[in-house]
Amino acid sequence: MPDQPLTIALSKGRILEQTLPLLEHAGIAAAEDMLKTRKLMVDGRPADGTPVRFLIIRAADVCTYVEQGAADMGIAGRDSLLESRPHVYEPLDLKIGCCRLCVCGPKELVEAGTPPRGSRIRVATKYDRLATEYFMGQGVQAEIIHLYGSMELAPLVGMAERIVDLVETGGTLRANGLVEEATLFDISSRLIVNPASFATRKTLIQPILDQLRQAVDDRARLKEMP
Ligand code: PRP
Repeated sequence: MPDQPLTIALSKGRILEQTLPLLEHAGIAAAEDMLKTRKLMVDGRPADGTPVRFLIIRAADVCTYVEQGAADMGIAGRDSLLESRPHVYEPLDLKIGCCRLCVCGPKELVEAGTPPRGSRIRVATKYDRLATEYFMGQGVQAEIIHLYGSMELAPLVGMAERIVDLVETGGTLRANGLVEEATLFDISSRLIVNPASFATRKTLIQPILDQLRQAVDDRARLKEMP
């Protein structure tokens, strides 16, 4: 029986725009435009060496698909990996989707100083675990208000004193009168691999891994050129 194609889970949204040129550079591409299609599963380009197919899903779900073995490998943000701690291998930093996970708040609140030890604040975030751990380390009791996006709105409507969210250009913060208070982690996208797939499908996975590593190195070298 011919091998099942290698299944690669990709995050949709703005990260996909950075993922596709990297995949293309590595000689791995889809048979159709993944930015335009409404399909959630897309075949790889038949001319490429390893038979692949892509799943196009929400960033936070990539870890789940790979951990469950529904995808052999995937591209996930370090933020999702730190928050959900899936049992997967993380062999490669793809150096795309670079941003930082920060505590932010309204300018006047942040300028008044960090919340004192023993205080209680409301924190809007989708990173419940990371936010709880951070504030616990600060001796601050954080009441987590879980949101799925547009966290910057929560302080504006008086629902939270702080947010824990990704900051890339800082444009969304500025547009909403918020400032950064602390950086928790530097974030980039990582290649992740299901451990059982890696053991049983290594001959398919290793070439993809090598091609991607080469593409990441090539792009870094191009950036360094004057
Ligand atoms: C992300 C993040 C911030 C914004 C930061 O949201 O959650 O809101 O980007 O980017 P910036 O610093 O360049 O402004 P995204 O646009 O992905 O949508 P979401 O709020 O639905 O997660």
